[in-house]
Amino acid sequence: MAMLEGHKKIETNATLLLTLSFLVVTVGGIVEIAPLFYLENTIEDVEGMRPYSPLELAGREIYVREGCYVCHSQMIRPMRDEVERYGHYSLAAESQYDHPFQWGSKRTGPDLARVGGRYSDAWHVDHLVSPQSVVPESVMPPYAYLLDREIAPTYIADLMSTHRLVGVPYTDVMIENARLDFVEQATDFGDPGVVERYPGAQQRNFDGQEEVTEMDALIAYLQMLGTLVDFSTFTPEEAHESR
Ligand code: HEC
Repeated sequence: MAMLEGHKKIETNATLLLTLSFLVVTVGGIVEIAPLFYLENTIEDVEGMRPYSPLELAGREIYVREGCYVCHSQMIRPMRDEVERYGHYSLAAESQYDHPFQWGSKRTGPDLARVGGRYSDAWHVDHLVSPQSVVPESVMPPYAYLLDREIAPTYIADLMSTHRLVGVPYTDVMIENARLDFVEQATDFGDPGVVERYPGAQQRNFDGQEEVTEMDALIAYLQMLGTLVDFSTFTPEEAHESR
């Protein structure tokens, strides 16, 4: 009874009720949020993840500039239909170097999180030049002009430094070699540096033209999406812990 009496006091006094509610919410909030400040990382480390190579990063910039995310998501949800269609559900670690992330909220076209390696480079060129030439019912717009736009790695080192500022672990060596790696990856002169610095980087002439173009960069990016983690050997961290 005494407790109910006490409660009556709270419920009939708006100021007291608000003050106490505020206190309860504050304590609850702190308990939930504060531990996150003391964790090194809230994303589990996954073998194979590495920062984007300079060319892939440039391709990603084009992807963002062209608004591909307006029609394409990059997040496979852990639901059966999605996993059967697109492959293993996306891991947090797979977008840990994405600034901004490209999860998206709209799928006019398919999810692209694991599109890497699914088609040939020539298919991507044809598709980007004229989507309807490959998929007649497609509503995707053409991006043929990417073939005519040469790109030089003028600002790539600055871009990588900016990404380092927000936590992407680019090393000094990566940034020093950024311009060289950018060109080497798209021209395939055989310099192994880019693959040493970015394991799994695919090095070749992506668009079949002599010059390095925006098409090269975009396809280099598309072809690496979802390919870094080897899911034949991957086991989630919980599986190692005894529960
Ligand atoms: C207006 C919406 C729209 C935009 C914008 C768009 N796409 Fe698409 N995309 C689609 C649709 C629809 C499909 C499925 C039909 C097809 O393959 O063309 C598709 C298919 C694709 C595929 C094949 C995926 C698969 O698994 O078969 C790729 C790759 C792709 N788009 C890349 C891009 C890129 C890169 C951009 C930006 C340069 C882009 N799209 C912009 C709608 C769009």
